[in-house]
Amino acid sequence: MINSIEAKKILPIKSLQFAKLIYFKINKLLIFFDRTLIRIAILSPFLSSFYYVLISSQFRREQHSVVFGRFQYYKNLQLGQSNPYLLRRNIHRLEKGLIMRPRRDIFAVGYIEETVRAYCHAFEKAGEFRCGDSDLSWANDVLSEYFRIAGSHSVINQSKQKFLSLAPLKSKGQCIPYKRDLDKPISVSYTQFLELCHRRRSVRWYTQDPVPRELLDQAITAAALSPSACNRQPFEFRVFDKPDLVQKIASVPGGTKGFQHNFPVIIVVVGKLRAYFNERDRHVIYIDGSLASMSLIYALETLGLSSCSINWPDVDQKEKQMANLLSLEADERIVMLISVGYPDPDALVPYSSKKPLDQIRRYN
Ligand SMILES: Cc1cc2nc3c(=O)[nH]c(=O)nc-3n(C[C@H](O)[C@H](O)[C@H](O)COP(=O)(O)O)c2cc1C
Repeated sequence: MINSIEAKKILPIKSLQFAKLIYFKINKLLIFFDRTLIRIAILSPFLSSFYYVLISSQFRREQHSVVFGRFQYYKNLQLGQSNPYLLRRNIHRLEKGLIMRPRRDIFAVGYIEETVRAYCHAFEKAGEFRCGDSDLSWANDVLSEYFRIAGSHSVINQSKQKFLSLAPLKSKGQCIPYKRDLDKPISVSYTQFLELCHRRRSVRWYTQDPVPRELLDQAITAAALSPSACNRQPFEFRVFDKPDLVQKIASVPGGTKGFQHNFPVIIVVVGKLRAYFNERDRHVIYIDGSLASMSLIYALETLGLSSCSINWPDVDQKEKQMANLLSLEADERIVMLISVGYPDPDALVPYSSKKPLDQIRRYN
């Protein structure tokens, strides 16, 4: 027999256990329900969309970011502002036309008008809309070369008139297609590069020596030379080296627990979906951002610095936290984070065995 005092103590425990049991059962039911629905969702792309509209909201942010990016892209055009991404893409397309074999007399008719328009806006607003000098010189030189070789066509002729009506830009050099000097031997051998690849490891423990910004800038300069789709370079490296900011940012992702307190620097790689007019390119920020990040990581290694890539999964609360910290707009998506510092010579790194060649390579 239990007395009333004991009953008062036991009752809340019992009701808590009961609540937990109910929660557990509901959760199990929801998981079962979800797994059943997945079986239906895989039957067709339409049913998958249905699933992601009605049942799961996991793609909601991505969809919002993509559509926000498209809106930004068109807004820039409609407001008559320079759209640096359109200009970069089209100048790249012109360069591809210029190197074509055989080269056609008439090409780019479909987009030369918008290219010259974008160039004119960039020209007028140079400096104001971050369409830097190098962008403008590149565009100027390529357009000059294009109009020099292009045949006669009403659209091309009109655009040429418009282009020539601008004051000639003092270009820094000839930023047009060129022959690479292949006679000059490359100073990095495969063996040296492989050594660099072996040397680079994800390093999680650093000395507390400050990292000179000149070195970070050198690494980012190398990263900027990475390939990117249509040379748009739709990313930005947000570098944080103030200890309080580093701590705030480094503690947001889940994958830094237990070692984030020793990061001297954290870099957030931010992709900009406003670089695209179409959903089809929505993955490119991740590809371009990652290719540039890999170059950055190797460059850091050559400068005596180590790094660790840090995952950025799409988690609602963390996304909001980071958007606030970095004042991100809806189309600005985090590709990943990278911790940087001088490696602690006494710290261990995981062995991280790599797959052998025959497991990751298949010809034809
Ligand atoms: C996209 C990406 C996300 C990663 N996220 C984390 C992370 O959140 N935390 C962590 O400690 N390491 C992270 N890493 C590092 C990997 O664990 C590491 O690259 C892998 O184990 C191989 O080791 P290695 O880089 O030394 O070759 C990440 C790496 C990549 C490429």
